[in-house]
Amino acid sequence: MSLSDQINKKRLPTHIAIIMDGNGRWAQLHGEQRIFGHQNGVSAVRAASEACAELGVKFLTLYAFSTENWARPKHEVDALMELLVATIRNEMPTLMKNNIQLRAIGDIHSLPDKCQLELVEAIEETKTNTGLTLILALNYSARWELTEAMKKIAADISSSLLAPIDITEDLISSYLETSDFPDPELMIRTSGEQRLSNYLLWQLAYAELYFTPVLWPDFDKEELYKAIIDFQGRERRFGKTSEQVNVK
Ligand code: IPE
Ligand code: IPE
Ligand code: MG
Repeated sequence: MSLSDQINKKRLPTHIAIIMDGNGRWAQLHGEQRIFGHQNGVSAVRAASEACAELGVKFLTLYAFSTENWARPKHEVDALMELLVATIRNEMPTLMKNNIQLRAIGDIHSLPDKCQLELVEAIEETKTNTGLTLILALNYSARWELTEAMKKIAADISSSLLAPIDITEDLISSYLETSDFPDPELMIRTSGEQRLSNYLLWQLAYAELYFTPVLWPDFDKEELYKAIIDFQGRERRFGKTSEQVNVK
């Protein structure tokens, strides 16, 4: 039986979040500069998006650039921004063909103007697509997001739009960048690193974590199927006992 046939289509995760890691090491293995790894990571982005669209996964969030990534050498940051612009432009036909809606989370307004323009245009062009929602985490970090949410809540309290008693978990979620999306049930990180690197700290509270040694440019549809099959084999207990969860 093929891997995709082993997936139970009725128990798909609604939202998958991925930390696309290992581009630099992939390039090094091939005796190339780091940017060559980023360029080759684009095909993995396409594969993961297409696989999710085909399966019927509703949301896919990809960590494309973290707030901390600004600390990389300037030429790498510049090359990543160029690649982002070119990729969004080149991938438009794939997004349209697969009925994918593009969204972004993160401090988008601090990205170079060219990136913002390209992004806003692609979001606008795909906004009526009804299949997968592909969310790019760009200039994103969870602590930044939580800090911004706290500032907005405080501002709404001081202007009497809110009272402290109104603060609930749902209210906090509604102030986050991800307010339009459900929390991810499955978080995948490639390249063997086992950390969250400031990714969706609030939203991943009960996500299943899947770590694979595969480097991002080698992460293809089959690798995504493996992660989903692994996810489907787990028992999600949410604090309860196994017996409670298995009550028929
Ligand atoms: C992930 O690959 C891509 C980004 C962070 C933009 P890396 O560039 O982190 O690759 P490694 O971890 O150095 O191999
Ligand atoms: C996390 O990867 C950020 C992205 C994938 C965009 P990094 O490679 O930057 O993470 P650390 O620094 O190794 O934790
Ligand atoms: Mg890395």
